[in-house]
Amino acid sequence: MKVLNTVIELQNQIRNMQSDSVGFVPTMGALHNGHISLVENALAQCQVVVVSIYVNPTQFNDKNDLKNYPRTLENDLELLEAVLRENDIVFTPDNKEIYPVEDNREFHFGNLDNVMEARLRPGHFNGVAQVVSRLFEIVKPDIAIFGLKDFQQLAVIKALVSQTGNKVRIIGHPIIREDDGLAMSSRNRLLEPEIRKNASIIYKTISAASAMISDSDIPQIKSFVKNSIGKINQFEVEYFDIVDDTELIPVNKRSEMVIGKRYFGCIAVRAGKIRLIDNIEIGLV
Ligand code: PAF
Repeated sequence: MKVLNTVIELQNQIRNMQSDSVGFVPTMGALHNGHISLVENALAQCQVVVVSIYVNPTQFNDKNDLKNYPRTLENDLELLEAVLRENDIVFTPDNKEIYPVEDNREFHFGNLDNVMEARLRPGHFNGVAQVVSRLFEIVKPDIAIFGLKDFQQLAVIKALVSQTGNKVRIIGHPIIREDDGLAMSSRNRLLEPEIRKNASIIYKTISAASAMISDSDIPQIKSFVKNSIGKINQFEVEYFDIVDDTELIPVNKRSEMVIGKRYFGCIAVRAGKIRLIDNIEIGLV
């Protein structure tokens, strides 16, 4: 694999390879097996794969979160070396390469701007849209792969691509979980041991909530989720919403759910000092 830091080097390298298909996996580093599985998906579909590692400051609405975000470049490169091929690229730009001038663009995504993560992290998705559109402009990928754990982010990126008319095909990749069910995330390594041990409650609870849809209505399911997780020391549910998979409009009653549409239960939990998100499909029976 080649590790490149500048836009010019990256674009020359991609041009020289004259590949039919460029696959792209954008990341903020602190890589884990969830990321590696996105990379493997891209490798199976494309002649050249670009993995970017860039902690994008514009998507952090909390300065402390940006400061504490894990940075593990050496380990990331080792993990990628084990899977990438000779011509694949790891792109590790600095801020000046991504934002040679300040990015003041404002994006609007309708309902996606008003629910769940958007409500609790104002400006977050605008920053994601800034960096992803910039990275797409630099890499010009044929396909780009994003994890389904960041469910709302995936919906935002699909909306961004349709607004900008970019031809890139966006692929959502299934959530990869630890043995105890916790969704893999770069933030898991920031959990204190006792909190990490208890964090399996999140997936256990949303799995049970998904099964409840056959005989309970949504308000009962929501209270169950809130209580089941909230009774664990230092755990608090910020939201648990059941939403459709395109506009992410929350449903408040089972009777509002439409057969033929897909619904997901999306959760954010404050676990000690760390926020964790997860989701699960809620199938109508
Ligand atoms: O999901 C992430 O890691 C980031 O939000 C992304 C898509 C790499 C943009 O910085």
